[in-house]
Amino acid sequence: MPKKKVGLVGCGTIGNQLAMAVDSNKIANASLVALFDIVENNLQNLKSKLHSSPGAHSDFGTFLASGADIVVEAASQDAVRTFGKAILEAGRDMMVMSVGALAENDLLVELLQVAAKKGCRIYVPTGAIAGIDAIRSVRHLLDSVTLTTTKSPKALAGAPFFETSKIKLDSITKTAVIYDGTAAEAVRAFPANVNVAAVLSLAGIGVDKTKVRIVADPQATTNQHEIVAAGSFGDIRITVNNVPSPGNPKTSFLAVLSAIECLRSICDDGMRIGS
Ligand SMILES: NC(=O)c1ccc[n+]([C@@H]2O[C@H](COP(=O)([O-])OP(=O)(O)OC[C@H]3O[C@@H](n4cnc5c(N)ncnc54)[C@H](O)[C@@H]3O)[C@@H](O)[C@H]2O)c1
Repeated sequence: MPKKKVGLVGCGTIGNQLAMAVDSNKIANASLVALFDIVENNLQNLKSKLHSSPGAHSDFGTFLASGADIVVEAASQDAVRTFGKAILEAGRDMMVMSVGALAENDLLVELLQVAAKKGCRIYVPTGAIAGIDAIRSVRHLLDSVTLTTTKSPKALAGAPFFETSKIKLDSITKTAVIYDGTAAEAVRAFPANVNVAAVLSLAGIGVDKTKVRIVADPQATTNQHEIVAAGSFGDIRITVNNVPSPGNPKTSFLAVLSAIECLRSICDDGMRIGS
């Protein structure tokens, strides 16, 4: 079987680990052919760590022309908005990490239409949570889904939410609920923190019905996601305590592992396990 050619948008925390997994043959049927990042240093830094020689592109057009079969986005919601359609128009499959962008219904519909027209697929890894298989299975029977995310203030710093909120992260001395609302608003207010809310919403009852609570805990050493979903099927309660990635406290190590596993499964597996 010919190896799947992989292009990578975003050479940061997730991109580095994913590229190194492909580079070290942890994904048998994948080869890394092209890297793209808007920050030249990040691009060259990753390239210098690899044994293989993917093209390192600071221009998106040349990146896209590199012939990748699948493009992995591990950059930002903006990258999905700016490049998602072009990736699919070029007939490439796309794996999306900045899933918050897909919470925008217009963009989601447009990308799905282009993917259908071009016969390509959009993959969304489970990311930093668990149980997406079960949520998908019961989606038509769900009455409520609530995600409670607890992180240290430093993992929440820089979110657009604080540009308009009166809450000052450095004055939080004990556990405090800083956001309680819909997933739709949460992914806009905390774009780098609650991609999991977007994944959960896409799998379940949508961004307007999925509730999100964000808790800042100065003592937190993990990024904790607690999902409670209920309906006529029964209920699901899942708590995941994630070690933050060394390179980026906002990104849980599980999200990195989930990205690698999703790509491995696409490239290597003849059998699908789980719904
Ligand atoms: N789905 C999940 O569960 C999950 C979990 C963690 C992170 N994420 C998301 O995945 C993305 C990557 O996370 P990370 O921890 O690797 O981030 P990071 O900040 O460590 O790295 C992001 C990289 O992408 C580059 N970049 C940013 N915008 C770009 C653009 N428009 N075009 C090209 N390159 C661009 C940056 O220069 C940087 O090198 C983020 O959007 C993050 O919110 C998703």
